[in-house]
Amino acid sequence: MAQREYTWLIRTAAKADLAPFFAYLDDHLRDNGADGGPLFQPMPRGESRLSGSMRLSFLKGLDIEVGSLGWRCLWLAIGPAGDIAGHIDLRSRPEMAARHRALLGMGVHRAHRCQGLASSLIETATQWAGIGWIDLEVLSENEPAVAPYLRTGFTMLARVSDMLRIDGVGYNLTHMTRALRWGEHFSIRLPARFPVDASLV
Ligand SMILES: CC(C)(COP(=O)(O)OP(=O)(O)OC[C@H]1O[C@@H](n2cnc3c(N)ncnc32)[C@H](O)[C@@H]1OP(=O)(O)O)[C@@H](O)C(=O)NCCC(=O)NCCS
Repeated sequence: MAQREYTWLIRTAAKADLAPFFAYLDDHLRDNGADGGPLFQPMPRGESRLSGSMRLSFLKGLDIEVGSLGWRCLWLAIGPAGDIAGHIDLRSRPEMAARHRALLGMGVHRAHRCQGLASSLIETATQWAGIGWIDLEVLSENEPAVAPYLRTGFTMLARVSDMLRIDGVGYNLTHMTRALRWGEHFSIRLPARFPVDASLV
């Protein structure tokens, strides 16, 4: 593979980043299934905007301790002009008993795609993670997303046919996961009440 040149700074986001991040994310969501591109969010094209509940989940989640329900961590890739080129976030699963796992979301601004940024963002998040597993769901036809997930060590668990109906069309949903090597890179531990079984990872 040709050597790729990375020109982005990837860093964790702070509360002060949220206003420009929300503007970026609202614009990003408008790409959902637009101009013949793949759908990447389970929402109708005409409603693909940043909702109040999404904003709130970032606003609240950044303040919640990792390992507690509702936590969220966000990283931003900053482009050469200081613009937000991409993002990745990890968030808690809704199940109390799955606090050692996280759900992943990500996006790359249309001007920065196909240069390996998604892979760099995934590696940043997985090197930070103080958790045992990262899970994600991706619309199966979203090949530009499936490719970097597979390249960075995610495994396909299941593909559910006709899981979603969007704008009157049925779509398959792929479930993927990646086990992290517990203890190698993490910086934040879960509370002792919820130890991760190291034999599982
Ligand atoms: C998915 C997304 C984050 C990928 O970002 P990116 O920085 O362009 O990703 P990368 O450059 O690391 O890798 C993209 C891969 O998809 C491939 N790809 C790009 N367009 C493709 C297409 N139309 N069909 C098939 N593969 C495609 C590229 O060849 C590349 O694979 P390779 O590195 O093995 O050659 C970006 O396209 C995006 O933001 N999409 C909308 C949001 C989204 O889908 N989020 C994920 C939801 S689960």
